[in-house]
Amino acid sequence: MVERATMTNLLAEKIVVITGGGSGIGAAGARLAARDGARVVVADLALDAAEGVAAECGGQALPVDVRDSASVQAMVAAVIARHGRIDGLFHTAMSVPLVNKSDRRVTELPESVWESIISLVLTGTFHVCKYVGQQMLKQRHGSIVLTATSDALLGQAGLDAYTAAKGGVVSMTRSMAAGLSPEGVRVNSICPGFVDTPHQREFLDVPEMRARIEGMHLMPIMTAEDVAEMAIFLMSDRGRYQTGGIYACDGGYSAFKGKLDVVEVFDRGKS
Ligand SMILES: NC(=O)c1ccc[n+]([C@@H]2O[C@H](COP(=O)([O-])OP(=O)(O)OC[C@H]3O[C@@H](n4cnc5c(N)ncnc54)[C@H](O)[C@@H]3O)[C@@H](O)[C@H]2O)c1
Repeated sequence: MVERATMTNLLAEKIVVITGGGSGIGAAGARLAARDGARVVVADLALDAAEGVAAECGGQALPVDVRDSASVQAMVAAVIARHGRIDGLFHTAMSVPLVNKSDRRVTELPESVWESIISLVLTGTFHVCKYVGQQMLKQRHGSIVLTATSDALLGQAGLDAYTAAKGGVVSMTRSMAAGLSPEGVRVNSICPGFVDTPHQREFLDVPEMRARIEGMHLMPIMTAEDVAEMAIFLMSDRGRYQTGGIYACDGGYSAFKGKLDVVEVFDRGKS
């Protein structure tokens, strides 16, 4: 693998808000955004975790519950009071344990779980985009980066609420881009495959599971930083022509249906 990139000034002086910045992909996004010159706001339901990451980044920690409109509005108001604008949003907030432990195929899915996942993933995205988007429209610039998943693009048994909610995030990305980009606000989504984050370790620590997950990708299992690097680009002015994009960042997960080279096997069979 290539060495990880060192510091750039891609986000110099930009005000970047990262929801879910207390852990995993969001925390990686906060660290890399700070590395690349941004002033970072780490917004998370877990304020202690947000404070830890913000301290590493020289940034600000704020509490937010993305399910709650008033909480999102208070978070955005606090950012504006301190910084006056928001240039980039990386929205990652999500409860991975809720999905990993409770989601089911549709026939066994409790209605309460469906509602919890739709509220957190889809309505949470609506709240954050609505209030950050209003501020970006006032500024007539800004870049919103959402975190979808490869599971929104490909079938995944047993995740019928999560895939529905993230499929909604993918659809919103395009319609919000169409609505907001003419006034200077870009909107894109990243679709990660299986990422080595704290809550996914329970799978990766089981050798048989790790082997099966590795077999679903073309490259080694990606880190949170691998996903966050793409968000950095999309929030930067280098990504100024990117909008309405749904970007796979998945080590090839969505690119192939099998690793078997059928032509090669066929030719070998003939010789
Ligand atoms: N990890 C993966 O394999 C993977 C794969 C594809 C997509 N994703 C997506 O990437 C994003 C980040 O995943 P992760 O693995 O880094 O998660 P994580 O659990 O490590 O971090 C998520 C953060 O969101 C916060 N959060 C939870 N509920 C919240 C709420 N209501 N309001 C505000 N913050 C809240 C948590 O406190 C936590 O700090 C999620 O949207 C997830 O769906 C992850």
